[in-house]
Amino acid sequence: MQVKVLFVCLGNICRSPTAEGVFRKLLEREELESRVHVDSAGTHAYHVGAPPDQRAREAALRRGIDLSAIRGRQAEPSDILEFDLALAMDRENYENLITIAGGHAHKVRLFMEFSDRFEENEVPDPYYGGPNGFEQVLDMIEDASEGLIRELRRLRSFE
Ligand code: 4NP
Repeated sequence: MQVKVLFVCLGNICRSPTAEGVFRKLLEREELESRVHVDSAGTHAYHVGAPPDQRAREAALRRGIDLSAIRGRQAEPSDILEFDLALAMDRENYENLITIAGGHAHKVRLFMEFSDRFEENEVPDPYYGGPNGFEQVLDMIEDASEGLIRELRRLRSFE
């Protein structure tokens, strides 16, 4: 059975599509892409149908990750039923997901819990900042993604 992982931020145009792209690439490297279903969504509807922010696309592309096929969508209560894990980029996203999660709150986690190298619990919102914010987002997401793969292996999700 596939493990289903949903990355969630506010707008679904910066952090969560970046996480979707980074994690997908890692799954390919580990030859696990057929074992995990990956998607991303935003807690708000501001950017439904929009491609990822150009700054996020360019920063990801510099690391060999193509986000151009992703389109923004809003997270729905049915996502919490469908997915095994809904990984929030920050506490606000986390609280919003908990509100729609009902009895499935155990599926909602902060993505940075899986990071080793970073003390921070939240991926900072890069939308109103400079280009360095997108590099920081990528560094944090790459590290948390490695940790997530290790955790899925530890939980024997792939057997
Ligand atoms: P994201 O970033 O949650 O990482 O996609 C944002 C995108 C858009 C807005 C805020 C944050 N906005 O206010 O439109």
